[in-house]
Amino acid sequence: MNKENKLPDDWEEKVVLKESENIYGETYLVEEKALEQFLLLREELLEEGIDIELDSTYRSVKEQQELWDEWTVEYGEEYVRTYVAVPGHSEHHTGLAIDVCLDVDGKRINDNDEMIAEKEIFARIHPHLAEHGFILRYPEGKEGITGYGYEPWHFRYIDDAQIAKEITDAGITFEEYCANH
Ligand code: DAL
Ligand code: ZN
Repeated sequence: MNKENKLPDDWEEKVVLKESENIYGETYLVEEKALEQFLLLREELLEEGIDIELDSTYRSVKEQQELWDEWTVEYGEEYVRTYVAVPGHSEHHTGLAIDVCLDVDGKRINDNDEMIAEKEIFARIHPHLAEHGFILRYPEGKEGITGYGYEPWHFRYIDDAQIAKEITDAGITFEEYCANH
């Protein structure tokens, strides 16, 4: 789904969500297979000294609306359109999208600009995504295709490591992949 494609009406009944707690004691809901793979990914990265934590996962349409409204007040409408999907159009409604934050030397980094500035860390994280069935959904330089700004933190679970690898290796967006399959 993206700005043009909305979720079907009965999607909410089809999603199987599981709860998981991050190191800050916050609980998040994630689609069960996506969560299983995320936890493996997190362990793998911890072995390399990188700590990724759940920062935003499943969001109901109501929660997305609240986020939209809050961010509009805080950052203005143009910024919101760049980083927040219109309620009903977000991958976060499915539980298949995970926004991570970074824990660097005990400091939580989850501000958009600060995360974008952590280029080296994300460059070490991203090559691990595909083997766990995740893709970087909003890559840098593809804003014109995805409709959103670069989000190094937003991982989309697609439940197929082979396809995730194909998309990643080709350097294409999910939009481009779907248009040809
Ligand atoms: N940040 C992404 C685009 C969302 O709100 O779904
Ligand atoms: Zn996201």
